[in-house]
Amino acid sequence: MSKSLVANRKASAEDVVTVQNGRGAPKSPSKRSSSTISVSPPSSPQKTPKKKSNDAPGTPTRKKSSLKHPSTPKSSKAKTPIVTPTKNQRKKPSTPKNVKKKLDVSALITPAEDEGYTKEEKEEFIAGLKNLKPLPSTVKSYGIVNKLTGKIGGNAEGGEIYGEQTIGSMQKVVEVMKKFQNLNSSSRFIDVGAGLGKPNIHVACDPQVSFSYGIEINVSRWHLSLSHLIPILRSTLTDVDMPPQKLTLEQGDIFSANTFDPFTHVYMFDIGMPDVIFDHMSKMFNEAESEYLVSYQPPRRIVGKHGFKVELICQMGVKMHGSAEGHTGYFYKRLGGVVKKGNVKRSLNVAPTSTSLPSDIPCDPLFAPAWSSVLSGTETVLEWAEEEQRKFHESGRSQRVRKKNVPFNV
Ligand SMILES: C[S@@+](CC[C@H](N)C(=O)[O-])C[C@H]1O[C@@H](n2cnc3c(N)ncnc32)[C@H](O)[C@@H]1O
Repeated sequence: MSKSLVANRKASAEDVVTVQNGRGAPKSPSKRSSSTISVSPPSSPQKTPKKKSNDAPGTPTRKKSSLKHPSTPKSSKAKTPIVTPTKNQRKKPSTPKNVKKKLDVSALITPAEDEGYTKEEKEEFIAGLKNLKPLPSTVKSYGIVNKLTGKIGGNAEGGEIYGEQTIGSMQKVVEVMKKFQNLNSSSRFIDVGAGLGKPNIHVACDPQVSFSYGIEINVSRWHLSLSHLIPILRSTLTDVDMPPQKLTLEQGDIFSANTFDPFTHVYMFDIGMPDVIFDHMSKMFNEAESEYLVSYQPPRRIVGKHGFKVELICQMGVKMHGSAEGHTGYFYKRLGGVVKKGNVKRSLNVAPTSTSLPSDIPCDPLFAPAWSSVLSGTETVLEWAEEEQRKFHESGRSQRVRKKNVPFNV
């Protein structure tokens, strides 16, 4: 790893701060701080629709990371924010002006037909995705993951509510992305909330994307993901059956980025994420050159509620590990196609130190060090990941020593 990269990563570690209310310090205070709950008053008390909380369990407290780089955490525990409406909010009387105007999104939720496939052809393709055999490198990589952290990833913090798809189900997602979202070896893929890293590992093997980047806010989970990343990257250096993987998994908060550049494909297993994240991510997506989105939220939320400028290509049911629970994956593409920003140096959202990065592809400063590192080669990423793991183990040891010296467990 280059010295400047290491310095950059170190600098970011110092900047991580814990913020109030589990919401993170707002970049634009008006938008970030007000967002947790909005109670639309009912027209009559009997007809009050139950307000669904989007702060599902397992969504951790967000910490504000440095804009420079999110990779090194400062503190470890992430907690679920619990927000209860006050008495006054619950009893707020209805007034017609408080009733939200329903947005007509019917035109956008009809699957697009311009990839050369009709709706029926797409459905037929999806229905035919049975008994798929993942590539040997994918199987080997999942083997490493399962050996280390179990099939469900249940030993991660919050494991009981942590959701992951089966390898077969993820393979189907990848096949649909390859077919209808042009996912290929030139693609740049981000998993927002990467967890233990499986979707990133999967697309790094098949179709061997050029940049597979995961960002995960939960420190414990991220460390587990590093314990997958390290042996997988090592195996690509020694095992002839393992192709090189342009893969990295980092710790950070997606709120620290302004756009999704340079990613062509934005993936998020976003069940239970709060509205405030979607509002931020829709701005990130709309600002970026990213072309495709995979979400587990339907168009009425993605388009209607959060304003992503996308249209639905198709949708597909997915299976979860360790439960009968199923979800639907929605595959979107940017509405109206990608508008190139032109000279990226003129963009405000381009990393200032992007000299080692392609000059014609904009890149948010948050993602620049990781992309640069992946472009430098497997050894660079491996060296960084091993160093992060070493620091983590060392800090664990020093904490235990301190505890031993305390006379009473207070
Ligand atoms: C359901 S898990 C998905 C794991 C993985 N993507 C997969 O499909 O196997 C969602 C993850 O999003 C993470 N997350 C939630 N808010 C986040 C944020 N603001 N920035 C980064 N990660 C976040 C959570 O900690 C959790 O691990």
